[in-house]
Amino acid sequence: MAEERDAGSKPFYVTTPIYYVNDVPHIGHAYTTLSCDVLARFKRLDGFDVHFLTGTDEHGQKVETASQVAGMTPQAFVDKVSGNFRDLAAAMNISNDDFIRTTEDRHTAACQQLWRELAARDEIYLGSYAGWYAVRDEAYYAEGELVDGPEGKKLAPSGAEVEWVEEPSYFFRLSAWQDRLLALYEDNPDFIGPDSRRNEVISFVKGGLFDLSVSRTSFAWGVPVPDDPAHVMYVWIDALTNYITAAGYPDTDCALYRRFWPADLHMIGKDIIRFHAVYWPAFLMAAGLEPPKRVFAHGWWTNEGQKISKSVGNIIDPYDLFDRYGVDQTRYFLMREVPFGNDGDFSRRAIASRINSDLANDLGNLAQRVLSMIGKNCGAAVPQPAAFSADDDALLASAHGLLDTVRPLFDAQAFHKALEAIWAVIGDANRYVDTQAPWTLRKTDPERMATVLYALAETIRHLAILVQPIMPESCARLLDQLAVEEGARGFGDLGPAGALRPGTALPKPEGVFPRYIEEEGEEG
Ligand code: MSP
Repeated sequence: MAEERDAGSKPFYVTTPIYYVNDVPHIGHAYTTLSCDVLARFKRLDGFDVHFLTGTDEHGQKVETASQVAGMTPQAFVDKVSGNFRDLAAAMNISNDDFIRTTEDRHTAACQQLWRELAARDEIYLGSYAGWYAVRDEAYYAEGELVDGPEGKKLAPSGAEVEWVEEPSYFFRLSAWQDRLLALYEDNPDFIGPDSRRNEVISFVKGGLFDLSVSRTSFAWGVPVPDDPAHVMYVWIDALTNYITAAGYPDTDCALYRRFWPADLHMIGKDIIRFHAVYWPAFLMAAGLEPPKRVFAHGWWTNEGQKISKSVGNIIDPYDLFDRYGVDQTRYFLMREVPFGNDGDFSRRAIASRINSDLANDLGNLAQRVLSMIGKNCGAAVPQPAAFSADDDALLASAHGLLDTVRPLFDAQAFHKALEAIWAVIGDANRYVDTQAPWTLRKTDPERMATVLYALAETIRHLAILVQPIMPESCARLLDQLAVEEGARGFGDLGPAGALRPGTALPKPEGVFPRYIEEEGEEG
């Protein structure tokens, strides 16, 4: 159980949205999951007991229709396609602790219990719905929210087609939660990030809330409403509940729930902020449960300036990127290129340039130069330093200070800024190599050369440990080349306490970050 697992360290529960199984995984899904993985790895290295959840959203009208198109029963269909998301997670080295599928029994039990709780507290009542519904978004829209599409057609604000729905429906008394939601945002300034999204949510809630339709009768692929099997639950109440199912709900006394709920962070894309920052905390508070601590909405990727869509045919296949550029290189690019929270554009030119300048030239070259000089001139062992000069101390101090600089940046999901800070030290180290010129010291002052190379190796150790959350494989190789033991790669090993021991034998160095050579005919 969780408590036995790691009783001493602080818990950290992070979740991805659960993905609609009918889609083929693309860069957008990869991005959300990657950002959570980076955070989960950072927190583990920083001594936290992490619970990292991802999974698939398998109910609802959209999935039911997709299964019909595929000529399969919904269950057979979801069994087949949910594997795509598991495979993607494995392919990009995602370190999730659990993978939830909303068709699992544990999840049906959680949804039905949450429903009973809401019904018992008179938060749900039976009525009838007449209004617009967009299957693509699995969302209800008020008349006033619709926008004009081609040929006078009304569309959802997302551009999705809408259909008129009229059917008996249970409603959740969302309208009664306006003040308590506003108080939640007010009392917890970090509840929604980034600030632009927080403002958007606050003004939406201030505009007034309508009761929310939470069941459907016109199709069957969902969790049955307790005691009224003609209804299935609205797919969003079902989907959001996954976050507590995976924490052991309805058993709120179990070790997992007590340790990990409320979640520290729900990471999502900006399109689903309303569900996570308005409906979900309202459902939870209405059921007497605690809302999550934070919801962060990242931006959307475009492809070479164009909106990514199946119909345009410009979906970016993550496997393509891994094959062409490498998994770690893709991970680095996605986390570095775009200020996290903003929209960003994917281009072949941009990823190639990041790989060649940041990885091959800056980090790769630093490690390669230093390790091969040590290999050739220091008997392939960690050199023995003499007294440090002011320059050496300055370089080491910047490496030692990095964790304190990047920790608050990771905690604020400012991944790009954390990487900027780490790369600033890489820049310092490269300038230090140039000014100290250890290759000339080799003849004039070998003792000084050993000191310089030691300070550099120690700096590289810090860099490799700190970059592990973003590029786990490559950093493992760098740390192998520095003969840092596997048990000595956590943030507790940073600083002088974990310093490299002079005389430790080092393996033959090899390049970790190759240059990317564009293929003939590839767009520049
Ligand atoms: N099933 C719901 C989530 C339920 S969570 C309780 C869902 N699934 S989804 O598969 O459509 O989307 C999952 C995530 O992918 C969202 O966070 C969304 O923002 C993200 N992305 C989809 N396309 C994207 C881009 N082009 N760029 C970045 N992220 C995008 O919504």
